[in-house]
Amino acid sequence: MNKQPIEERIERVLFSAEEIEQRVAALGARISRDYAGGDYSRDPQGRPPVLVCVLRGAMVFSADLVRHVPTDLEYDFICVSSYGNGTSPGAVRLVKDLDRPIYQRDVLIVEDIIDTGHTIDYLRRGFAARDPASIRICTLIDKRVRREIPVEIDYTGFVMDKDEFIVGYGMDYAELYRNLPFIGVLKPEYL
Ligand code: PRP
Repeated sequence: MNKQPIEERIERVLFSAEEIEQRVAALGARISRDYAGGDYSRDPQGRPPVLVCVLRGAMVFSADLVRHVPTDLEYDFICVSSYGNGTSPGAVRLVKDLDRPIYQRDVLIVEDIIDTGHTIDYLRRGFAARDPASIRICTLIDKRVRREIPVEIDYTGFVMDKDEFIVGYGMDYAELYRNLPFIGVLKPEYL
């Protein structure tokens, strides 16, 4: 077990807790405006949107985001994992599916980070096959420098143009560091 306090294992803070809080609040305001104002509601029965938190990384971001959306919404959870081996690069495995149907619902997928784009592409295609009224995508971090599959993102917190491995605010390295309140870069000796 690491004896060093986790914050001391961080080389550099990329996005502070205050910066994140401001961006999340702004995203929440836009999302409420778009859906509650009717600009983006496509559900024929007028039901509120379903916000889908992609476990596990998006847990922290989603929890903060929903508290900045002061309008009706429901939420659900899906858990996927990338195989992460050389034989099937980009392959995504469904660990836990949604609990409820999304047929004719407005779906907002919430991710912590979109990197190569394989995960969000898998989710978007899988959801589209269930005939929702609409699908929109929200990510806190768009690491577009690593993109392998084009993705249209509707709500973005921050864009990363540099390929750096980041942790914190839900994002992990070997399952650690998700509980840091900011996003930073690990010291190389901890990678
Ligand atoms: C991370 C992140 C996204 C995905 C993005 O999840 O939460 O779901 O990677 O990468 P991609 O664009 O290259 O597909 P990860 O598989 O690390 O699992 P986690 O959510 O449990 O951290």
